Amino acid sequence: MTFDWKNLPRPIIALSPMADMTDSAFCQTMKEVGFPILFREMVSAEALVRENEKTMEMVEFAEAERPIIQQIFGSDPDTMAAAAKIVEDAVHPEGIDINMGCPVYKITSSFNGAALMKDSALATEIIQKMKAAICCPLSVKIRAGWENPEECIAFAKVVEAAGADLITVHGRTKTQGYAGYSDWSIIKRVKEAVTIPVLANGDIFSPKDAQRALHVTGADGILVARGALGNPWIFPQIAELLETGRITTRPTVREHFELVLRHAKRHMDQYGERGLVTFRKHLSWYTKGMQGAKEIRSSLVRIHTLDELTNLLQPFLQDNKPMELQRLASLQPESYD
Ligand SMILES: Cc1cc2nc3c(=O)[nH]c(=O)nc-3n(C[C@H](O)[C@H](O)[C@H](O)COP(=O)(O)O)c2cc1C
Repeated sequence: MTFDWKNLPRPIIALSPMADMTDSAFCQTMKEVGFPILFREMVSAEALVRENEKTMEMVEFAEAERPIIQQIFGSDPDTMAAAAKIVEDAVHPEGIDINMGCPVYKITSSFNGAALMKDSALATEIIQKMKAAICCPLSVKIRAGWENPEECIAFAKVVEAAGADLITVHGRTKTQGYAGYSDWSIIKRVKEAVTIPVLANGDIFSPKDAQRALHVTGADGILVARGALGNPWIFPQIAELLETGRITTRPTVREHFELVLRHAKRHMDQYGERGLVTFRKHLSWYTKGMQGAKEIRSSLVRIHTLDELTNLLQPFLQDNKPMELQRLASLQPESYD
């Protein structure tokens, strides 16, 4: 069946794109325990049209990862359209997403990412040309404006009028970076202003946050980023809470670390054994705030091989107690309760 944002069961639950994090190994691990829609990390349109080998590898995925949405960043409409077509022809993802929200200077200084929110005409041309170049749905991820959150309401209408099929809003402005909190009330206003589906993003760190964000914004779904780092279980837990009002999925320490090892193995398959150096960041998240892990955390961030990792994790692989992680706390104002 053709993938269509309008006809998917609600609420839509998805993994938000994260550069250097949401690669194939990570996404396969998320899919193993849950069933979120996966937004893959942004790739450069310029690099795609040059058929840069590393970039082409970044858009590859395993069949088990579907449905998958590949995000692209860039600012030249023809290049963006050509890049989207290259991705569609090469790997046939369920959708393509445009990054119009990245606040990082390296990206915005060349008029990519959130900078596109300042130029409606250019954003429109990009969306129109990309839409004409591909057959799969095209979505756009934005922030709540550059400086003034009101900006995103008018901009969402521009995105809709240009032909996008879905819009995700991270409720912080570009100038805010990660300060303060994601303004779910502005996402609600975007939802009321457009007819295409809207996904709410920002500060969803627990199943309860997901439930509140859906309630407050009235959005068609949610996108979870940092809350999924080191915690793939958040997706089945969100689905359970929304469906039954209860959460029974509670991994034991053993189950958690068995999953970590499978993720590490996939990471190694993707990047080679030396790739375990880049797996250290995931180990930090997988043990963040975990009782009894303080001693091994310093060793974990120095591992080089899968054997080293397996040996270090041995005590945890015997532990059948429930896994307790101190997660990021929601910064949402109480007025949302
Ligand atoms: C490490 C990291 C990398 C990110 N990379 C991307 C990216 O490639 N594309 C994008 O649209 N957003 C990116 N983001 C933003 C997230 O997708 C998300 O919008 C933001 O973190 C707010 O959601 P959260 O509160 O659930 O983390 C990134 C965030 C983090 C923490």
